[in-house]
Amino acid sequence: MRYTLPLGSRSFGPLCIMHQAKVVELEPRPTNSDAALVDQDYDAPELSASGRTSSPQRRPKPRGDPSQDSASTVTVFPKQLNSILAETVIVVPCKDEEVEVIKGVVAGIPGGCAVILVSNCSRQYGENGWEAQARMLSEFIDWGREGCFVHQKYCAAARAFKEAGVPEILDPETGRIRNGKGEGMYLGIALARSYFPKHQYIGFIDADNRIPGSVTEYCKAYAGGFASAPLFAAESGSTPEDVMVRICWASKPKHNSKTGRIEFMEQGRSSRIVNTFLNKLFVVEGEDREFITTGNAGEHAMTMEMALRMQMANGYAIEPFQFIEPLLRHSSSSRRDAVDSFESKPNDSRTTHVLQIKTANPHLHRETNNDHITKMWAAGLGALYHHLPSITTAAGLGTKTVADLRKAMHRFALENGAIEDTEELPCARIYPPLDCADLDLFRYYLGEPCLSYDGSKGLWFYGLVEERAWFNDGSDSPTDQSISGSENESSYSDDRRSFASSEEEVLSDFSKSGE
Ligand code: GDD
Ligand code: MG
Repeated sequence: MRYTLPLGSRSFGPLCIMHQAKVVELEPRPTNSDAALVDQDYDAPELSASGRTSSPQRRPKPRGDPSQDSASTVTVFPKQLNSILAETVIVVPCKDEEVEVIKGVVAGIPGGCAVILVSNCSRQYGENGWEAQARMLSEFIDWGREGCFVHQKYCAAARAFKEAGVPEILDPETGRIRNGKGEGMYLGIALARSYFPKHQYIGFIDADNRIPGSVTEYCKAYAGGFASAPLFAAESGSTPEDVMVRICWASKPKHNSKTGRIEFMEQGRSSRIVNTFLNKLFVVEGEDREFITTGNAGEHAMTMEMALRMQMANGYAIEPFQFIEPLLRHSSSSRRDAVDSFESKPNDSRTTHVLQIKTANPHLHRETNNDHITKMWAAGLGALYHHLPSITTAAGLGTKTVADLRKAMHRFALENGAIEDTEELPCARIYPPLDCADLDLFRYYLGEPCLSYDGSKGLWFYGLVEERAWFNDGSDSPTDQSISGSENESSYSDDRRSFASSEEEVLSDFSKSGE
């Protein structure tokens, strides 16, 4: 993969955000100037003690022509990419997407990566029920893939979190893990650490992506980002410690029903808004170039250590919150608020490097209505809004700047119908860093891997939805007691209703979550 070299970075205390890099070549051919390097690193990448690969190859800048600086590229060759991908777990949060669509996503994930499918599907049976999702994944396992399927409402997963010391992830009414994409990802991280302990990286890819080739590129971009991090950090005079790679898509194609044409929008409807406010937050005087392009990046990856160290927000607030989380973690007052019952870790002073990479492929996914989008950006803004006063010092921002920004966010939400007159922006529920949880107990309560599909091939499949365990707790279905499990039309439409209401609950949950 060949990327443009990011044109600098901005540092805010412990947070260093790189300018966006752009994929310029998916499968570059080593050129003469790369050739010498090919011998050294292309064929024999070395793993450092931390498991991160050594130097990617930077193309020399054309001499004597400073205007060509932006053409400088960095290349990461397949062997290096593959060694990182073999250390990567990709978590795919899914709900009621058609199994064929989720299958396309799994098909696009490079074979070296382990895959964890965390499903919050509202029905068990039928061609698009969770059993079919699990079966679909098991086919990949049979072909040699490492993977794991879990349902978010699996009672043993709820118990495991409770015993591990994270009861806040449970819905007090049902005792199961709460609905939400953020909650699904949190479960995915805990599983990845518990069942793939040697993997160093974790990435996330939405299940409703219609272009398997885009998925392949996202994963390679993650790996390329991790490989390049030491180089990029050196440019900014620092050492990479925690690294996060966030994807900005080449475009988000949308069908315009009026013109009948596909329009290749640069940014999604929610991203446009959240990025605008993040750009105001992370502004640097004299630089007006668009800087933050990945505020809502559903597709992102990080070192496993970082994933374990981070507090996570619920639902769709999870991605925007990640931008301020490192600052929040470094601010002692907020740590008291957010993780009061957990010990702060001694290595909390690490620097977080955020790499933003724009892919060559577009992002085509399920279209959602305006109401969904409004709630999504309101949740994202809310996740920032309520914590801004706590990060002022850590980020080196003025109190007035932050106060003005909060006012602007509130006004925007009011004017655009996300909140009513007297209302506050929604407040995200924040979950503690998983390295404060007892993940040995988590695994103990979930049980040992079950080689239920084809253990003879030495392939791992974790039967985390074992029927016996499922029915032990007396419910017919993971999510909703009203689902009968029959495949007739009426039970199918009940399923659809339960999906709709669960989505509504996830989105509206934000407003209740400040408690
Ligand atoms: N496990 C699980 N549990 N998965 C969920 C849940 C849940 O409760 N809710 C949603 N998901 C999964 C969906 O199945 C889908 O694969 C993915 O999360 C994204 O959900 P969408 O409903 O498709 O979200 P979106 O397309 O509107 O927004 C996406 O893109 C935004 C940026 O444009 C999400 O990734 C956002 O988080 C992101 O900010
Ligand atoms: Mg989507």
